[in-house]
Amino acid sequence: MKQSAVTCRPFFRIAHGSVADSLSYMPKKPAQATWGGRFAAGPAALMLRFSESVSFDRRLAPFDIAGSQAHAAMLAHVGLLTTREHAAIHAGLDTILAQINAGKFQWDTALEDVHMNIERALTQRVPAAAKLHTARSRNDQVATDMRLWFKHACAILGEKIRTAQRALFVVAEAHCAVYIPGYTHLQRAQPVPLAHHFFAWLEMLQRDCDRLAVVAAHANVCPLGSGAIAGTTLPIDREFSARLLGFVDAKGRPQLTQNSMDAVADRDVYVEFAAACALVGTHLSRMAEDLILWSSTVFGFVELPDAFCTGSSLMPQKKNPDSCELLRGKSARLQGNLQTLLTLTKGLPLTYNRDLQEDKPPVFDSFDQSTLCADVLAGTVAGLTVNSKRCAAAVADPALLATDLADYLVTRGVAFRDAHHAVGAVVKLAEKSATPLNKLPLAELKKISAAFGPDWANVFDLKRALASRTGTGMPGPAQIARQFARWRKLLK
Ligand code: ARG
Repeated sequence: MKQSAVTCRPFFRIAHGSVADSLSYMPKKPAQATWGGRFAAGPAALMLRFSESVSFDRRLAPFDIAGSQAHAAMLAHVGLLTTREHAAIHAGLDTILAQINAGKFQWDTALEDVHMNIERALTQRVPAAAKLHTARSRNDQVATDMRLWFKHACAILGEKIRTAQRALFVVAEAHCAVYIPGYTHLQRAQPVPLAHHFFAWLEMLQRDCDRLAVVAAHANVCPLGSGAIAGTTLPIDREFSARLLGFVDAKGRPQLTQNSMDAVADRDVYVEFAAACALVGTHLSRMAEDLILWSSTVFGFVELPDAFCTGSSLMPQKKNPDSCELLRGKSARLQGNLQTLLTLTKGLPLTYNRDLQEDKPPVFDSFDQSTLCADVLAGTVAGLTVNSKRCAAAVADPALLATDLADYLVTRGVAFRDAHHAVGAVVKLAEKSATPLNKLPLAELKKISAAFGPDWANVFDLKRALASRTGTGMPGPAQIARQFARWRKLLK
């Protein structure tokens, strides 16, 4: 067959400014207002597009404004602003915040970042605003904004995790009489109450909350007053602004960074926050994986809610555990953000370098994604259906209590290693004769170990087996009741 000539024509076009546009230095643009004194020309369009951060750091606005208001109050306190100037600046910032919250603020990428956008808007309405940057640099300003943001972010994420914990607790409580096989190596190991498995998840998430509280405590130190790198010659009162911003210890004493160079260069809290989020992601992905397995036809322990699953465009019978799969997938992204921050700061000379502007996208993304993940886990779990019959069938295998049988021999004076060996032989015999472990004849068992007595098969009573697990952290009923009480209190 003769092929017709095909003309290849792009059927879409990506919109972007031309390189010529971006590189057009002529005619000269006016120098940048806040730092342009020594410049003859402003930045190229390409440079502006490359260097702006306002598209992502505008979310710092409430913290930036709080920081500026505290700084202005401090300047007034030490006599660098008059009461009038301070009042005008404070009110002007309030108005700008209201505009931002109402979505009426005009953000301008030519002004680079959130700090300069707000300062410019303030200067336009309040002449005294030209004094606001006294004894301050964007370096200590952004460090302060971010520390305020971290405290806020840790509190929100912590609350989201608690909501997810509560959802898990509700399911555990509603199915407190359900038992499942616990797994090691993804092989059925020993029976546990379903609640015990859920409590394991609660522990993981509780450590995440504790970790976030530590990150918030590390963030709770005020860098304001460090200036660009070496503080200021002006008589500022760092304690005053720190106190106003809530950078205080339990006794209300202000907490200040102790080295102006470290204060503007340090990004440890960013890394710690991203690490905490990465661990949240790792924990959620492990839960998600268990739920994926449990909801598969092979396990059948649970059914995931329709609202958090999707179907296949081809196979009509499919119900896919997408929310859980995405929880697994998102954890990779959260780990990536941590890696980005470590790489960003590695080998960076002191103190501030513009590279550090790139610290915000990964940190914000870690927050956005981990809060979203916590919500999705909570939603998925809240709609979970537990198939108690399938769980009961899976946990009924007497082989799950083979270890208890070894313990039985130990109580009859056999050394554990020998008991383990003997029970191994019993398991092999059961397999070979296709008999359930607990139905083997005593005479056969006696051949393996004389220590087996007529009561040997009592071991296979699941209730009894669990009741003997009385130690702290074990899945026995008394301990489970204790954990229910503990979590009920912790999650109130
Ligand atoms: N947008 C900047 C950042 O996030 C603020 C600090 C700028 N400082 C400077 N010296 N250019 O890093």
